[in-house]
Amino acid sequence: EKGGYPHFMIKEIFEQPKTLADSMRGRVNVDENNITLAGFIDNKEKFLNAKRIIITACGTSWHSALIGKYAIEEFARIPVEVEYSSEFRYRKPVIHEDDIVIAISQSGETADTLAAVELAKSKGAFIFGICNVVGSSIPRNTHSGCYTHAGPEIGVASTKAFTAQVTVLTMLAMMIGKEKGTLSQEDYLKIVYELARIPEKIGVILKQDSTIAEFAKTFTYAQNFIYLGRGYNFPVALEGALKLKEISYIHAEGYPAAEMKHGPIALISQEMPVVVIATSAGMYEKVVSNIQEIKARKGRIISIVTDGDEVVSNLSDHIISIPDTEECLVPLLAAIPLQLLAYHIAVVKGCDVDQPRNLAKSVTVE
Ligand code: M6R
Repeated sequence: EKGGYPHFMIKEIFEQPKTLADSMRGRVNVDENNITLAGFIDNKEKFLNAKRIIITACGTSWHSALIGKYAIEEFARIPVEVEYSSEFRYRKPVIHEDDIVIAISQSGETADTLAAVELAKSKGAFIFGICNVVGSSIPRNTHSGCYTHAGPEIGVASTKAFTAQVTVLTMLAMMIGKEKGTLSQEDYLKIVYELARIPEKIGVILKQDSTIAEFAKTFTYAQNFIYLGRGYNFPVALEGALKLKEISYIHAEGYPAAEMKHGPIALISQEMPVVVIATSAGMYEKVVSNIQEIKARKGRIISIVTDGDEVVSNLSDHIISIPDTEECLVPLLAAIPLQLLAYHIAVVKGCDVDQPRNLAKSVTVE
């Protein structure tokens, strides 16, 4: 059932070219230059008139929510708030009847997210679910939604569900933006074209698996890791750090790269591995200067760069290069090497990657 792979996690990482194609199937049509998402079309007026969108989720799904916020605000110009379901449900959150609340959950069974959905529903908001498990509790309790179609995810560390969530959120942001006229036709077409190429580009990145496995061995000594990114890549840094914590038991923190100088830079020494997402699409020069600050303090730099990069490559101890794409789509590519890095470090450390200690696949208790 692991399809010849040693663990479900690595099988699921390698499935991503296919799962993302499945997420887009019948939705992204490059020949007609179009995206159709039934969940959006059925509720078009609600999305076009929304004054605010609140996204509620936990863990990895909360990270995809943050990427969704960047895309919805950029393309659809609707303010988005991203909430941890556990905080949202126990505060006295302000929820209006004309708010849209999007609940993101792989399992569709996360207790706090389900409770957040029920709370928002009782306040009259329109609830839209983005879930993977068909027929699970959250989709049954929302007004509408969109399945991610990533297929069953068995590994406790979420991988293919994350990239499928980001894909659905991106398609949703593009559809709202196109209909509202806040996303130009030219940009819309460029992103549709590039989105359709993401599965094949992930296939190219996966070919670097053995290189990543090789240098992962160097880092098993580490007690701590820092992950940095800016813009769309900031949530990817958070997600990379979560993957490493969950399965390798190495403490890791993700930060927006520019926050380093407000405190965490004090942690940098030659012992500290720092993973930086430094792709050409997305504040490249700014990230380069953040890397120089780390280099000056002798941090060990592992960079995710765009193919052909020279500047960051020269500053880094290890690089993983990924194909170029539109800025909003970089997370779909940059997440892959971070999943592989966490996986290989955990494997070399002898950890049980599919069943990490203290964790369950779906958190149905609060
Ligand atoms: O099923 P959900 O997406 O609602 O689960 C949310 C989190 O429990 C989940 O993403 C968790 O953080 C994963 N173990 C991350 O790899």
